[in-house]
Amino acid sequence: MSKQKKIIVAIDGFSSCGKSTIAKALAKEVGYTYIDTGAMYRAVALYCMQEGLMDEQWQINQDELSKRIDKIAVVFKTNSQGVSETYLNGVNVEQQIRSLHAATGASKVSQLRMVRQAMVKQQHLMGKDKGIVMDGRDIGTVVFPQAELKIFLTALPEIRAKRRFDELQAKGETISFDEVLKNTIERDKNDMSRTESPLLKADDALLLDNSYLLPEQQTKWIRDAFNKVLESV
Ligand code: DC
Repeated sequence: MSKQKKIIVAIDGFSSCGKSTIAKALAKEVGYTYIDTGAMYRAVALYCMQEGLMDEQWQINQDELSKRIDKIAVVFKTNSQGVSETYLNGVNVEQQIRSLHAATGASKVSQLRMVRQAMVKQQHLMGKDKGIVMDGRDIGTVVFPQAELKIFLTALPEIRAKRRFDELQAKGETISFDEVLKNTIERDKNDMSRTESPLLKADDALLLDNSYLLPEQQTKWIRDAFNKVLESV
């Protein structure tokens, strides 16, 4: 088959596993579009916070949200430095959605069926022409179960929390490592135990534990996996 044939690459796994790093690197290398579905749930959480649909205890006004859910448009635009940024109803929210607060909000809104259905609808449109690397929690199981290449990423919770802690510190967030570890474990639990599209490895997904891998080792691993699939389609 032609080397030009485009495929869908689905990358799922736990939070702070480095999914986006590996997905972005592959997308750049092979000229595909990178889609960060976590950013979409974060943007919905931000919308709920801004519109007063989520309170301090993370309770969501589901009646009101159900009336507005189809009006929440999340799109990605590439900035002048070639970096993809998230827009919520036309507004650049890339910075705001990266806080720990938005992450916790995202883990709450992503449990709602109406939110998942609306986001999956948008994700299907983004992938209709293939040539995408999409990362998330349910890409290989629910969004694109027919994806030609599925990868499930994992790493030890302490290692993931340390990576997240370093990132947050670099951004100037004042937070303890224990808090980040607690948040990581809590998010894993929410992701795996929710009824709607829980985090699950698809049977045919390749497993990659990157706890002790160097970035270049990971990049090579995924590039080899991509080339192998491309040769077979
Ligand atoms: O990958 P992330 O940390 O940006 O994801 C934010 C939250 O959204 C996280 O709690 C899991 C959830 N999520 C999801 O339920 N399904 C996806 N496809 C992507 C993210």
